[in-house]
Amino acid sequence: CGIVGYVGTEPAGQIVYNGLENLDYRGYDSAGIALVERELTVAKQAGEVSELSVPNTPNATCGIGHTRWSTHGPPTDANAHPHTSQQGTVAVVHNGIIENHESLKGQLLKEGYAFASDTDTEVIPHLIERELDDGHDLLSAVERVVDLLEGSYAIAAVRAGSNRIVATRHESPLVIGHGDDAAFLASDVTAFLDHTRDVTYLEDGDVALLEPDSVAVYRNGEPVDHDIETVDWDADAAEKGGYEHYMRKEIHEQPTALRQTLSGRIDLDRGDVDLDVDFPQGYLESLEEIQLVSCGTSYYASQYAARLLEEIADVRASVEIASEYEFDGGRDPWRTLVIAVTQSGETADTLSAIRRAAGAGARTLAVTNTLGSSVTRETNDTLFIRAGPEIGVAATKTFASQVVTLALLSVAIGRERGTLSTANARTLLENLRTLPGAVQQVLDEEEHVLEAAREYQDSESFFFVGRRYGYPVALEGALKLKEISYDHAEGFAAGELKHGPLALVSEQTPVLAVLTAGSDGSETVNNLTEAQARGAPAIGTVSDGLETKSLDWTFEVPEADVFEPLVANVYFQLFAYHVANLKGRSIDKPRNLAKSVTVE
Ligand code: G6P
Repeated sequence: CGIVGYVGTEPAGQIVYNGLENLDYRGYDSAGIALVERELTVAKQAGEVSELSVPNTPNATCGIGHTRWSTHGPPTDANAHPHTSQQGTVAVVHNGIIENHESLKGQLLKEGYAFASDTDTEVIPHLIERELDDGHDLLSAVERVVDLLEGSYAIAAVRAGSNRIVATRHESPLVIGHGDDAAFLASDVTAFLDHTRDVTYLEDGDVALLEPDSVAVYRNGEPVDHDIETVDWDADAAEKGGYEHYMRKEIHEQPTALRQTLSGRIDLDRGDVDLDVDFPQGYLESLEEIQLVSCGTSYYASQYAARLLEEIADVRASVEIASEYEFDGGRDPWRTLVIAVTQSGETADTLSAIRRAAGAGARTLAVTNTLGSSVTRETNDTLFIRAGPEIGVAATKTFASQVVTLALLSVAIGRERGTLSTANARTLLENLRTLPGAVQQVLDEEEHVLEAAREYQDSESFFFVGRRYGYPVALEGALKLKEISYDHAEGFAAGELKHGPLALVSEQTPVLAVLTAGSDGSETVNNLTEAQARGAPAIGTVSDGLETKSLDWTFEVPEADVFEPLVANVYFQLFAYHVANLKGRSIDKPRNLAKSVTVE
């Protein structure tokens, strides 16, 4: 879900609405706005932000808004935020879950409060109004209500007749933007980058009072000072920039994203990297194991990375789907480094896994794209992938940047432990440096991919296969296609085709294979031709020198050693995009999916 707030001297409606549009990748099954004058005007409904009309209240210079991705209660008009209090004097937007909402609701019902929705959120405006009725002002009312709430939340509240917003957070992101005679509030800076880049990230337990000419933050009733940081993402970077979809734009941004990921981090002379992560002296040498935890695309990037860590750094590395994770750290948990790999830094499953690890005494590291995100507060260290904002729900450029960031980490660890020679490190780093160019070469082949998409778009199912580094790429290729085209697609380890999936193969099931260096291409091509012999169209992403004449379709991958499957993945992204686009799918916002899943 996404929260937006504005208080200033301009009409608030349009500003809040635009903020919601910028945030709608966080959730979009319903949307709403509350504007403050002597009375509150609330507009909210199920559906996308674009379906919402901004109330005509030119004198309202304060407002809050919300885009929702349902957790409690279906996406209906009544369940859309903002939620209002009994007398309609308080409006609240909320992200997260109020775990004790049932007991709070029971109490409020007894006191005669009536409820209009099925949400956990609605207890909050009622509770705030109860405090206001007792004579508290909005700030202290919110402070008092926070003491009653259990769970995770980011909350913004407004009151009729009062040009201010009070906001608070616990385990859910919230950032304040400082403008001229205006203050902004949002779950994510993308909401208000058109207006300001000067921001303050709130921390758990903070309660902030936003007024046109001042922002004050309190914790436990005492004022606290937070730095104002300047965000260097420009607003244009978050817009579609000429492409029909964010996803296509983000696929094409990969060379730039990878350059940013690598920028200033490679020292070829020394054969080493500089990552700006200060592990304690001797920590990496004493390290026994690395565990990566993640979900979705980040999980496949982690699978790629675990192999890199083992091969480059010679350290034991395992990967676990975050929702399945249980920490097992041996006798000295601190010697296990648990890495949360998460684009958004907000995925609830991943946060909960990292909490389990930290609770058991492991050292933790976040690998994320999002400055100030929750995961960065919960881990000992953070390594940014620097891919820039990703709006399309289907992750693309962040996959590439995650793998490359973790490859750099593998080099750092290998060097520190003495398991990676200078010469081998140099070769790896040189290969990494060729990646932006290699990916560009693939992007230049987009027409060729479009042709393949045209030919195979009506197939019944699509299978993706690969070995070694090609295996996670096969899984990711299938995920991309199913997410945005709604076609059935599945990834397999190439060697497993003959142990089952081959039974499904027909003229209607193209098999797409990774046949590059780092993926045992010459073995995998045999598996592919076995499927082809049973009628399946055979499509290969191939690197130089492999005999592939018999294949139905080939895509050339430039040389990049173990990173070739990562480059091949760009063909799969383009293939998924074009199949989905030919079918007219809602590419940036596939049905039933959200960019940032903040529930377990
Ligand atoms: C959601 C998104 C996926 C993403 C996954 C993990 O399911 O739809 O695209 O891969 O979350 O997100 P994270 O932000 O933790 O990488």
